[in-house]
Amino acid sequence: MYKAKAYSIASSRSPFTGTTIPRRDPTPTDVQIEILFCGICHSDLHQARDEWASVMPTVYPLVPGHEIVGRVTKVGSAVSKFKAGDLAAVGCMVDSDGTCPECKAGNEHFCPNLILTYNFPDKHLGGVTYGGYSDSIVVDQRFVLRVPSNLNLAGTAPLLCAGITTYSPMRQHGVTKGKKIGVVGLGGLGHMGLKFAHALGAHVVAFTTSPKKKEDALRLGADEVVVSRNADEMQKHVESFDFILDTVSAEHDVEALINLLRREGNLTLVGAPPKPFAVSSFSLIMRRRSLSGSNIGGIAETQEMLDFCGTHNITAEVEVIPIQKINEAYERLLKSDVKYRFSIDMASLKAE
Ligand SMILES: NC(=O)c1ccc[n+]([C@@H]2O[C@H](COP(=O)([O-])OP(=O)(O)OC[C@H]3O[C@@H](n4cnc5c(N)ncnc54)[C@H](OP(=O)(O)O)[C@@H]3O)[C@@H](O)[C@H]2O)c1
Ligand SMILES: [Zn+2]
Ligand SMILES: [Zn+2]
Repeated sequence: MYKAKAYSIASSRSPFTGTTIPRRDPTPTDVQIEILFCGICHSDLHQARDEWASVMPTVYPLVPGHEIVGRVTKVGSAVSKFKAGDLAAVGCMVDSDGTCPECKAGNEHFCPNLILTYNFPDKHLGGVTYGGYSDSIVVDQRFVLRVPSNLNLAGTAPLLCAGITTYSPMRQHGVTKGKKIGVVGLGGLGHMGLKFAHALGAHVVAFTTSPKKKEDALRLGADEVVVSRNADEMQKHVESFDFILDTVSAEHDVEALINLLRREGNLTLVGAPPKPFAVSSFSLIMRRRSLSGSNIGGIAETQEMLDFCGTHNITAEVEVIPIQKINEAYERLLKSDVKYRFSIDMASLKAE
């Protein structure tokens, strides 16, 4: 065991402060990574503030962070995929049983014994797992991803959650040329959704509550932009979408989005606001529409997404911050005031 530097939060109302956390020495199948950048996902904020208490209560102190890129510093004797000096990435998962039907099908994210990168039981050291707001991490090689060498690293970190969470449902729902696709919410996930839908050849409509993001949405891949609080603009798109991806983190009118789907269209939720919402059965049954959800993606699909990003030169638009600005960044994230993902430069932590 060794001590790593990290930023943790002690309760739902505390600020983040610098600390040290235990990390295990690499086992034969482990990869030790020096973290270079870590994205700030809205899920980090939900959990730091214990907003998902009814589903996954937060264990404090919490070290969030599941959008990790870095450089391999050490590998266990049985590791074949990586060697010291390689770039590597870790997303939302660090372990699963590897034997259940879900794991065998490449759906580690649905494994009943899945271990998430933070706030999940740590079978090696006891307590809970600690995430990427840290200078290093040790992860089994099965959950370590390869990073295409042409991509900017600060902008690559967010691909590990925002990227796969938007890429996976688009692939599952056949987003392609000739389809009309909506992406709701222009934040970390949403701006990646625009990039992927555009790269997949679809006609893309961005839905935003922030009229000032209109120009950016067009630059990021939208063909049209709708200000979702403007009823007239919404009305123009009634019954026209094949697929809509909803990335919104707070309460909003889901029913209004369902009404924009054509017959048999699908609305997939990836945003995870804490409160349930109301949907009329009629809006679904009268057009045989469907409403579904999606949770990140499996490891093979995450690698496919990273390789797709390498080929198409896709990264997140990031505002790089030192870790000392994390409390300010959380306040800004709550106000949708980030273009479009914060990426923490971990050199700032090493310098402390
Ligand atoms: N399913 C999964 O696997 C998964 C993975 C990662 C994250 N998530 C969840 O996905 C959600 C989004 O995460 P994120 O990191 O992309 O968050 P984010 O960067 O804060 O983006 C959320 C966007 O939602 C829009 N929004 C915020 N409040 C709104 C409101 N009251 N009404 C309508 N729109 C509103 C804003 O876009 P505009 O300014 O354009 O309106 C905002 O930028 C979070 O709930 C997160 O926990 C789920
Ligand atoms: Zn996330
Ligand atoms: Zn499994």
